[in-house]
Amino acid sequence: MAVRKSPYLSSPTLAPETSDSPPIRRHSYFTSSVGKKVLMAITGLCLVGFLIFHLIGNLLLFFGPASLNEYSNWLIVNPLIVPAEIGLLAIFVVHVAEAVTNWLTNRSARPVPYYNSARRLFGYGWAGKPSRKGIASSTMIVTGLVIVVFLIVHLLQFKFGPDYPVTSPAFGTPGIRDLYRLDVENFTNSAIVVFYVFCLALIGFHLWHGITSALNSLGLDHPRYTPTLLQISRVAAVLIAAGFIAIPLWIYFVRG
Ligand code: HEM
Repeated sequence: MAVRKSPYLSSPTLAPETSDSPPIRRHSYFTSSVGKKVLMAITGLCLVGFLIFHLIGNLLLFFGPASLNEYSNWLIVNPLIVPAEIGLLAIFVVHVAEAVTNWLTNRSARPVPYYNSARRLFGYGWAGKPSRKGIASSTMIVTGLVIVVFLIVHLLQFKFGPDYPVTSPAFGTPGIRDLYRLDVENFTNSAIVVFYVFCLALIGFHLWHGITSALNSLGLDHPRYTPTLLQISRVAAVLIAAGFIAIPLWIYFVRG
């Protein structure tokens, strides 16, 4: 066994001198550029799954205080909630860390953007057809970082916000959390409504490119099915954003 320099890797690789087998890889799959894309895609799609679940739960608001509060109480008392929250946090951290490191690597590799400077918007550009590069894809890092800020504000307002106890109208359980009241309190404030609508629209924008890009990274790219997948992903992005946006707007303008 001797140490020889692999022609494929920058670091020395241990391999038997007589063997023709490929060099043993020192780095894991998830640190290669393909692996990193796959990791971003898997974590991104998990977060989309959470968003759909979270949206469905929050839309119970339209069925009245009892539905929303009892659903949230069912979540809080569920023994799986803490492991699920830890898993969600880990997925989120990996997704953001991968996004930032990829962006920094790409930026140092190509400091001058290759798109046509005449088509720039606020320093971000888009390539014309047939390229899939658009404003949404060029601003992923910006919209992603806005989502991080949104999430911090959102958790402080809701998860760690005031805990108004109420008695469950259906089961008579005392002391369940009155999230309906918290929703109404927050979304009767015009500044909070504007902040939410703005951030939720950006989340839709992030998903507009993110879902299609994730499917692409996972190899779901086919000349026949890709256009349909692209449409489904974009419809999903719009529905998710619109569903969330409906909540503050309904409370502010309709319920009052
Ligand atoms: C109008 C839109 C939204 C409303 C009304 C809303 C409402 C809430 C409420 C009431 C909670 C607290 C639930 C509890 O502690 O039981 C919560 C938690 C949370 N929300 Fe939202 N949410 C909205 C949008 C979003 C969006 C767009 C995201 C992600 C980008 C998000 C991510 C989270 C997370 C991660 C938690 C903590 C979940 C947990 O730890 O169990 N929310 N939200």
